[in-house]
Amino acid sequence: MSNAPRFLPAEDGVDPALVPYRQLYTGSKIPAIGLGTFGSDKYSPPEVAAAVKEALRVGYRHIDCAAVYGNEHLIGPVLSEAIAQGLPREELWITSKLWNDKHAEADVIPAFEKSLRELQLDYLDLYLIHWPFPNHHAPGVDVNSRDPHAVPYIHENFMQTWRQLETLVDRGLVRHIGTSNMTVPKLKLLLRDARIKPAVNEMELHPHFQQTELFDFVQANGLVPIGYSPIGSPSRPERDRTADDTVDVDDPVIVRIAERLGLHPAVVCIKWAIQRGQVPIPFSVKRSQFLGTLRAIVGEPLTAADMQAIAGIDKNCRLIKGQVFLWEGAKDWEDLWDLDGEIAR
Ligand SMILES: NC(=O)c1ccc[n+]([C@@H]2O[C@H](COP(=O)([O-])OP(=O)(O)OC[C@H]3O[C@@H](n4cnc5c(N)ncnc54)[C@H](OP(=O)(O)O)[C@@H]3O)[C@@H](O)[C@H]2O)c1
Repeated sequence: MSNAPRFLPAEDGVDPALVPYRQLYTGSKIPAIGLGTFGSDKYSPPEVAAAVKEALRVGYRHIDCAAVYGNEHLIGPVLSEAIAQGLPREELWITSKLWNDKHAEADVIPAFEKSLRELQLDYLDLYLIHWPFPNHHAPGVDVNSRDPHAVPYIHENFMQTWRQLETLVDRGLVRHIGTSNMTVPKLKLLLRDARIKPAVNEMELHPHFQQTELFDFVQANGLVPIGYSPIGSPSRPERDRTADDTVDVDDPVIVRIAERLGLHPAVVCIKWAIQRGQVPIPFSVKRSQFLGTLRAIVGEPLTAADMQAIAGIDKNCRLIKGQVFLWEGAKDWEDLWDLDGEIAR
């Protein structure tokens, strides 16, 4: 017998086979919860990589990565070690995303290859265009920072980027491609012109920001909604906060349900998300949090009355407004989100 270390699931973890999943239009199954990896200003790349390592041990199989999070080079060794120790690659669901400064036709494949190399994988399960706007800006800049070359959504340009993603599917390097931060009018154009349809749209989704119209459109068109900031991003940096922002985990409806079930309000947000039909990708580097969340989602479901009560607390409160992606001449951040159903120019 070999003495090589074996992948050891944690004794107090959750059997990944018990974790619910969603079926994509290709027939593939995506685990219905993923671990976010955007450490923002608060958690360092080594802390995030260590969390991924332990999250795999407690039963997470879906990891939401992105080039711009600056930690794929540390998450890669964790993934490759787990696979070398016997965790089957096909049990994992690994997502990465193309950053806004790599939309040019010639830049897409090299950017993808860098992520694949850093993640130490042969293929990705999902590759997303992170935002539908090409632009350059330094990580962590103030919300008032603007790229003088930023432009609004230009469908022809987006399709050039999308065609490159389609070639990655053709080459067997990516199993699914998708979008993030899209709106209904933008998705309509993409669905009309794509040779390979997007499998998901990743979008901000939490009880105070339910995006019902976009959510319904995404589902009606056979895409799975992936919900980011599912707890309302309580640890986001100051620069991403405004005076009008509301706090999901303080909402009396959420708190009341949490108290009844003996759970943290954050976990109620995640249970609601999964039962509603989206795939939440909560971030955490704290074992007790991410383990607690996973245990709770395989536990007693929220009641129909709980689900209805949470449906009633939508406050249309977008937290990740995207101000830094605005172009010259844009009015304000609402221009990024096509609120009147037309693509803003
Ligand atoms: N596609 C996009 O454009 C996009 C945009 C934003 C985010 N994302 C993805 O979505 C992920 C999640 O979003 P997010 O990081 O903004 O926010 P989030 O998941 O809503 O909030 C994360 C914070 O919630 C707290 N938390 C997590 N689990 C908890 C638990 N069981 N009990 C109590 N508190 C808990 C932690 O706060 P403390 O650390 O303070 O304890 C943690 O830092 C990101 O990491 C990233 O992967 C994607």
